[in-house]
Parts: sequence; C-alpha cells; structure tokens
Amino acid sequence: MDCFSLKRLQRRKFFEEVVNKGGTLWTWRSHPMYPIDTLLDEHELVNRVFAIIEKVRDKLEDEEEISAPVFWKLVEFIRGYADVIHHSKEEDILFEQLREHDTDLPKEVDRNIAVLIEEHIEALDLANEMHKHIRAYHRGTAEGRNKILKSVNEYLNIMQPHFKMEEEEVFPAMVAVLSKKEKDKMKADFDRFDKILGGKEVHKRYAKLVEELEREF
Ligand SMILES: [Fe+2]
Ligand SMILES: [Fe+2]
Repeated sequence: MDCFSLKRLQRRKFFEEVVNKGGTLWTWRSHPMYPIDTLLDEHELVNRVFAIIEKVRDKLEDEEEISAPVFWKLVEFIRGYADVIHHSKEEDILFEQLREHDTDLPKEVDRNIAVLIEEHIEALDLANEMHKHIRAYHRGTAEGRNKILKSVNEYLNIMQPHFKMEEEEVFPAMVAVLSKKEKDKMKADFDRFDKILGGKEVHKRYAKLVEELEREF
C-alpha cells in the first residue's frame, strides 16, 4: 500500500471514529490534516482520473480505438475540475495564506510553491494540447495518435509525481506551521470558493463524469 492510500485510510478511520463517538466537526478540526482534507478529497477524484488516463494511454499504445467522448470528458475534467476547482484553491488560498503567514518563507518552500504553480500551468497546457489533437486522432492519422499519446504521457509524468509531492511533503509541512485560526480561515475560504463555483452540485457533476468514464474502461 502506498503512502497516500495509507494516509487516506487513517483519515477515514479517524473520521469514522469521530462520527461513531457522536463527535462533531470541531473534533474533526483536531485532525492533523484539517483543513487539507478538502484538497485530499479532490485528489481522490483526480487520482481516479489518473487511473483512467493510464488505461487510455495503454490502449493508444496498443493502437486500440478510443471514442471521442472519452477525450472530451477527460479534457473537460482537467480544465474544469483539476484546474479551476482544485489548482485554484491551492494557488489562491493555500499558497497565498502561507505567504501571508510567513512573508519570509524559506527558499526551499518558496521554490516548491513556484514549481507546483508551474506544473499547474503545464497540466492545463497539456489538456489544451489533447483537445487540439482530438480531431486528427479521429481522422485516423498516425500523427494524431502520436500527438495525443504524447500529451497523455506528459500529463501523467508531470501530475502523478506532483500529487505525490503535495501529499507527502508540501501539505503536511504547510499545515504544521499554520495556527488554528489560520486553518479555520483556510477551510472557510475553501468552502466559500466552492460555493462561488456552484457548490456541491458541481462536485457531484464531476464525480458523475468520472463514474461514466470508469464504466467505459
Ligand atoms: Fe497542485
Ligand atoms: Fe493538488
């Protein structure tokens, strides 16, 4: 079991214990990963999409046909959910708040944040690349297949280690330095941001999209 799966299980177990004992959200707030659990929940959904993209990559390599809606849905998910809903929270709330907390951040932390932001931009560029090559792919050209395969591969190569670094190094280090008041503010900002983007309904819509994709593979 990888480190992330273990952390996820620990988080679930803790949450279940809190609920079983009649605890409240206030108890949940004593968990070391609060309020990063919002971001980790989003990682769970994106990780499921990584698994789908791996299957797409394998099929492309075996020259098996992928239907057009699969690519539309993947591009829609990466742009709408991974980028707008998730990356925005990290950039505009988490990183910003950390900079506010410590205006003189250690060079290493500052460098990590810069790398993560750069990778967010690259991920969005690759989704746009993917979108650009869908038509050529469905015209059946080898060039179209190679280009879309290249975008898919690069996306996974950048974003899978990106998630691993956030979960194992960046998030724990960040929550460790924030005060309770700052953590509460962060959670409130995450919730407010979600509400602006359409709230739970939007999250449900993307979860449905992922289920549809999973059914195809
Ligand atoms: Fe990120
Ligand atoms: Fe992330």
